[in-house]
Amino acid sequence: MQNSPPSSSTTTVYTILTITTLLFLLLFFSSFPTSPPPPSFSDPYLFPHRPSTAQYHNHQLLFTTTNKTTNQSPPSIAYFISGSSNDSGRIIRLLFSIYHPRNQYLLHLDSSAPQKERDFLALTVQSVKVMWSAQNVNVIGKSDLVSPKGSSSVSSTLHGAAILLKLCSDWDWFINLSAADYPLVTQDDLLHILSYLPKDLNFVNHTSYIGWKESRILKPVVVDQSLFLAEQSEIFYGTQKRPLPDAYRLFTGKFSPLGFVAPPRWRVFESHKWVIGSSTSILSRKFVEFCILGTENLPRTLLMYLSNSLASQSIYFPTVLCNSPQLNKTVVNHNLLYSAYDAKHQPRTLSSDDLDDLINSGSAFGSMFIPDDPVLDHIDQKVLNRGQGLPVPGGWCLGGSSDEACSVWGDADVLKPGPGAKRLEQLMVKLLSNESFGSSQCIVE
Ligand SMILES: *[C@@H]1O[C@H](CO)[C@@H](O)[C@H](O)[C@H]1NC(C)=O
Ligand SMILES: *[C@@H]1O[C@H](CO)[C@@H](O)[C@H](O)[C@H]1NC(C)=O
Ligand SMILES: *[C@@H]1O[C@H](CO)[C@@H](O)[C@H](O)[C@H]1NC(C)=O
Ligand SMILES: *[C@@H]1O[C@H](CO)[C@@H](O)[C@H](O)[C@H]1NC(C)=O
Ligand SMILES: *[C@@H]1O[C@H](CO)[C@@H](O)[C@H](O)[C@H]1NC(C)=O
Ligand SMILES: *[C@@H]1O[C@H](CO)[C@@H](O)[C@H](O)[C@H]1NC(C)=O
Repeated sequence: MQNSPPSSSTTTVYTILTITTLLFLLLFFSSFPTSPPPPSFSDPYLFPHRPSTAQYHNHQLLFTTTNKTTNQSPPSIAYFISGSSNDSGRIIRLLFSIYHPRNQYLLHLDSSAPQKERDFLALTVQSVKVMWSAQNVNVIGKSDLVSPKGSSSVSSTLHGAAILLKLCSDWDWFINLSAADYPLVTQDDLLHILSYLPKDLNFVNHTSYIGWKESRILKPVVVDQSLFLAEQSEIFYGTQKRPLPDAYRLFTGKFSPLGFVAPPRWRVFESHKWVIGSSTSILSRKFVEFCILGTENLPRTLLMYLSNSLASQSIYFPTVLCNSPQLNKTVVNHNLLYSAYDAKHQPRTLSSDDLDDLINSGSAFGSMFIPDDPVLDHIDQKVLNRGQGLPVPGGWCLGGSSDEACSVWGDADVLKPGPGAKRLEQLMVKLLSNESFGSSQCIVE
């Protein structure tokens, strides 16, 4: 809709106003490094089916897009990527390797990382043209204090999920990744497979088997000081133990009972005496809204119970899911993440020797990798077809020059799934087959 042209006297007033505002803005910004203002509308080449309020040219369009209705659009994923001190390089690499213009990304470095690492993330993201145009990568400026063993990590994850709900109203799944994770399929593969699935499925490793965990992890009363002190400090243990809850049943991820020595450069996990299986999960938007905006009280009461528990991050989501009658049919007992264990059942780091197993597992992600391990280069070359410092080329990438492989963009709704989609499909068929789906869902052992 267009307004009728204003009369000449109002035009003069507008002109004066505009010039004054511009001068003021110039003065205001002259003390900051110059960077282009972010576009306040959807890029018409990446998102031809979204309403766009202005024409926008910073690259060439090769193909005109086909006619599509929005309900045929593939799904999209909201990623929350968290790391610690010295993780900014790994987070940028992970971001490139899982980048797709349809998705949303929120990057978080906990407060053990210096501010300059956060600035580095923000500046890098701003300098990548496609990320700037799609406006889908955000960095949390004010960090949370996170103790990996305590409940502050659940609060940080819910914080990230809440921001993502607010930032974007149309993502379908939420995935929580750490800087030690890496993809094993392209986003085109993953989005393609997800587009065949009901949007309310949740992929969460869970078990109700308690065993040795009861005394070591579930009964101690602990205080996570990251919840109330400004500086990082150790968790402390109360002298009393408490009984297990009987108002609901606890479900947990996988635990590893024995001592664990982290490799020296592997800072995120360094302070762990024992380690929990990765708490990565793939959660439906409906479930995330249930936890954050819902009117049922379990997500809140459980959060308060867990504030004095160890390993709450591997308990929270599975327990809410399995104790909610409206959600317990939507859980798949697999997080689509490959991890390997050593002879003592400890999660171990992955190397080039694991490459075949990683790929053949059909998983969407693998964990845990050492920074810049050669196996990551192999995954970039063999699986993702990704050049160093560049996003994975997908259906949206129409071509480019020798130094920038994807400078010409097309419709971001067009996916080009590759062999990764076949592998993921096989895993999905196995997981969703009649025998395994229902029979491993929220089972009381
Ligand atoms: C696009 O879709 C609209 C209605 O959905 C239809 O009227 C129009 O002819 C289509 N255009 C093309 C090029 O297919
Ligand atoms: C940070 O990481 C880089 C390489 O990723 C390494 O060379 C450096 O020693 C690390 N610094 C600290 C303080 O761990
Ligand atoms: C999300 O991932 C981060 C990084 O791996 C982890 O510390 C946190 O516990 C996870 N949160 C949940 C609720 O799984
Ligand atoms: C889901 O909850 C309902 C009601 O509490 C229960 O009858 C059903 O067995 C549960 N299903 C699973 C898979 O746990
Ligand atoms: C999650 O569960 C699947 C299937 O039980 C298993 O293969 C995988 O190793 C588990 N992942 C983690 C991180 O525990
Ligand atoms: C799975 O089970 C349902 C009912 O339990 C049945 O209708 C359906 O045909 C089964 N599907 C397969 C592939 O066996």
